[in-house]
Amino acid sequence: MPNTHPTLAPYQIGALELRNRLVVAPMTRVSADSDGTPTADMAAYYRDFADGGFGLVLTEGTYTDTSHSQGYLNQPGLALEAHVKGWQRVVEAVHANGTPVIAQLMHAGALSQGNSYGSNTIAPSGIPPRGEMLEEYGGSGRWPVPKTMSVSDIATAVQGFVDAAARARSAGFDGVEVHAANGYLLDQFLTDYTNARDDQFGGTVANRIRLTAEIVREIRAASDDRFVVGVRLSQTKVNDIAYRWPGGAADAEVIFAALAQAGADYLHIASEGRDFIDTARLDNGRTITEVARTVSGLPVMANGGMHNLAQAADVLGGGHADLLSIGRAALANSDLPVRIAAGTEFESFDHTMLLPMATIANVRAWRARQTVR
Ligand SMILES: Cc1cc2nc3c(=O)[nH]c(=O)nc-3n(C[C@H](O)[C@H](O)[C@H](O)COP(=O)(O)O)c2cc1C
Repeated sequence: MPNTHPTLAPYQIGALELRNRLVVAPMTRVSADSDGTPTADMAAYYRDFADGGFGLVLTEGTYTDTSHSQGYLNQPGLALEAHVKGWQRVVEAVHANGTPVIAQLMHAGALSQGNSYGSNTIAPSGIPPRGEMLEEYGGSGRWPVPKTMSVSDIATAVQGFVDAAARARSAGFDGVEVHAANGYLLDQFLTDYTNARDDQFGGTVANRIRLTAEIVREIRAASDDRFVVGVRLSQTKVNDIAYRWPGGAADAEVIFAALAQAGADYLHIASEGRDFIDTARLDNGRTITEVARTVSGLPVMANGGMHNLAQAADVLGGGHADLLSIGRAALANSDLPVRIAAGTEFESFDHTMLLPMATIANVRAWRARQTVR
């Protein structure tokens, strides 16, 4: 009998038809050429998820401009024509069996630890980031203290997102996801302790979400209706897994309403460093994703340990989300949806597959070592 797990039910985001609710979470693989061009290896890596039955593929965080957006050396970009050509190969590979693919657009801000276009970093305010650089993406030690962004720096960053979205369209992507999660530039604007601005981008939560909303509005205005524009948000960050939005559900309502009003097509709530239930539960017993659904009326994607099928069924069945993004378990099982349908066991994720760096080549080497044993 075929498995009828709720993760396997079809779904639609705008005009985009998904064969199921299972989405590959964005995962940085620092495997592009040194100029940021995606490689043939990356096309093969992304194609594996499509062949493995995922309903939608989200790319890794991709830098948007040749100014301050790049976060890691060998991160792919959508900032040059050469990048578009490289991504076309990836898009064709994923589209080959009809799977849609969305590019995640990322500006690292203060959390840049490798930028081939310059060495200083920028952020809403000149406040030293918490924590230390991520070794798995080639960094070590403290992040530099960023320069406070001027009005013209903000305009450059906005234009970078808008131009990168245009390049994503010409590469054939089905949409873009604006990365406003996990501690990077747009999350630095949203976070109270990294944003000390006294202009229209600082102070109240409505002001702190304004930049992300403006970017969504501008991309939406420049794209046709079929092109999907999503936003990823999170409370936790790569450099602070304890952070929660200070106003809880009240902040969440302001944030989600602003993004819906700006024209977002879906909201994706990440659980960096924690499982869904640890990051999603609000003080009043609701979940942040359920608030997102109710306030915005948009499709909502939940994340964090969603390969736990009991949790996945509860989240979908309980009205907490419409879609589920899978990170680490997808790295261990590029065919996770096929396995769910067949009732086959999953391979467990082993963190050593990402060492010494989270490259595609290192995962392949790890896999070869397992086979030899
Ligand atoms: C190797 C790796 C790279 C990641 N890179 C990104 C990224 O580029 N953008 C992003 O929004 N999240 C990134 N994440 C976070 C994942 O998208 C996801 O939120 C996290 O792994 C939790 O989901 P999971 O429990 O299914 O793994 C990354 C995670 C991993 C393991």
